[in-house]
Amino acid sequence: MDVANTFILGLKRAMSEQLVISIDGPAASGKGTLARRLADYYHLPHLDTGLSYRAVAYALIARGAPLDDVEKAIEAARSVDLANLDKHALSAHHVGEAASRVAVIPELRRILVEKQREFAGRPAGAVLDGRDIGTVVCPDADVKLYVTASAEVRAARRLRDIESRGGTAEFDEILSDIRKRDERDTGRSDSPLRPAVDAHLLDTSKMSIEAAFQAARKLVDETLAKRNDI
Ligand code: DC
Repeated sequence: MDVANTFILGLKRAMSEQLVISIDGPAASGKGTLARRLADYYHLPHLDTGLSYRAVAYALIARGAPLDDVEKAIEAARSVDLANLDKHALSAHHVGEAASRVAVIPELRRILVEKQREFAGRPAGAVLDGRDIGTVVCPDADVKLYVTASAEVRAARRLRDIESRGGTAEFDEILSDIRKRDERDTGRSDSPLRPAVDAHLLDTSKMSIEAAFQAARKLVDETLAKRNDI
C-alpha cells in the first residue's frame, strides 16, 4: 500500500472515533462560518452556543422582563431546546446585545453549559463555537481554536454583511458596539472570553475565510494523524 493510501486509511480510522472541536472568539470574528465549514467537512454536528444565550435573552424580552431577572432567566434557560433554536428570530442585533448581558448570570450559564456538554458528548463528537468552549464547556476538546481579528476588520465585515442583506448602518456605530461587546464578554467574572492555554490562535484580520478554513483543517488533520501515529 502506498503512503497516500495508508494516510487516508489512518484518517478514516481516526474519523470513527469521537472528535470534538472547540472554536472560541469575539463577536464577528468569523468563528461561526469556520465552525460550519469544519462541521461539514468532518461530518460532525455543529452547535452555535451563542444561540442558546440569545434564546434566553429573547424569552426575557418577549415577557417584558428585565435582563437581570435571575429567576426568569433560569426558567428560560431550563426550557432552551438546543434542537429547536430559531436562528432567524435570534439573529437580530439587539438580541445579541441582550444575550451578552444575560450571559453574566452564573446560574444561567451552568444550565446552558450542561446542555452544551451533552451535545458535545455525542458518539461522533461535535463542533461547538462560542466564548468559553475550550475553557469551560469542553476543556478536553481534541482541537481548540481561538479565532480573532481586529475590531476594525470585524466591524467592516459586519457592515458588509448588513449591506449585503439590503440594510444600512454606520461603521463607527458598529465599531463602538463591537468594542462594548468585547469588553462585556472578556470582563465578566464567570467564564470570560479568553483563549484556552492549549488553543491554536487564528488571527483572520488578513485572512480569507478559505485560508482560515485551510489552516484549521491542517490542525485537525495533524491531530487525527497523531492519534493514529501515521
Ligand atoms: O456568538 P453570539 O454573538 O451569538 O453570542 C451572543 C452573546 O452570548 C455573546 O456576546 C456572549 C454570550 N455567549 C457566551 O457568553 N458564551 C458562549 N459560549 C456563547 C455566547
